[in-house]
Amino acid sequence: MEKKNIASLRKDYRQHRLDDSAVDENPFAQFALWFDEVASTPIGEVNAMNLSTAGRDGKVSSRMMLLKSFDQEGFVFFTNYRSEKGKDLEENPYASINFFWFTKERQVRISGPVQKIPEQDSEAYFHSRPRGSQLAALVSEWQSAPAGGRDELEEKYRELEKKYEGKTIPRPKYWGGYLLVPELFEFWQGRPNRLHDRIQYCKRESGKWDISRLYP
Ligand SMILES: Cc1cc2nc3c(=O)[nH]c(=O)nc-3n(C[C@H](O)[C@H](O)[C@H](O)COP(=O)(O)O)c2cc1C
Repeated sequence: MEKKNIASLRKDYRQHRLDDSAVDENPFAQFALWFDEVASTPIGEVNAMNLSTAGRDGKVSSRMMLLKSFDQEGFVFFTNYRSEKGKDLEENPYASINFFWFTKERQVRISGPVQKIPEQDSEAYFHSRPRGSQLAALVSEWQSAPAGGRDELEEKYRELEKKYEGKTIPRPKYWGGYLLVPELFEFWQGRPNRLHDRIQYCKRESGKWDISRLYP
């Protein structure tokens, strides 16, 4: 393939600013504020985020995920515990999530230790999902393992659909949620001439948050 020169793709950011004096002292509140502001723009999936993990070998991998809830405790997402990310988190329970909210020219990075959420919470969320998604979780017993072909997936799906017609679909034990407990937040606001605003929150032992501005 010929080299594609995309060096001239360039966008200047000039919609908003992020002042040190204006940020909330609580990073969760600051996140909620930005989340709500972005949600009111035509962005599609405001809760789409990139999740990065690394296993024992230190090799990092990233994938898009959907954030399903957040509060002062942390950030919750759901997946297959046997997936590649699941294996990574088993070996190294630490992750980083990243949101790029282009409609507001914003990025938020959050990182910290990760733990499985209680079984009953996974159970409740699983049963709140559309039946099709529940069945798909059963089809994908070993998420990220090589699959035979599309037909095999469709057939497994139809079989399970028949099997559970009119019945409750059981949550497979390998499917559930994780909670990322933040120890670091960074709020990035794009500014003209690449002189961006970056405000970082770092958690102290006492639980208090240190707030600092970073060079862009
Ligand atoms: C926008 C978007 C949202 C996604 N959300 C999830 C999710 O919430 N949970 C999930 O397991 N996979 C989700 N996926 C699929 C993952 O990106 C990934 O393909 C899958 O989880 C397997 O990843 P792994 O092999 O790294 O474990 C999503 C993909 C996209 C593009």
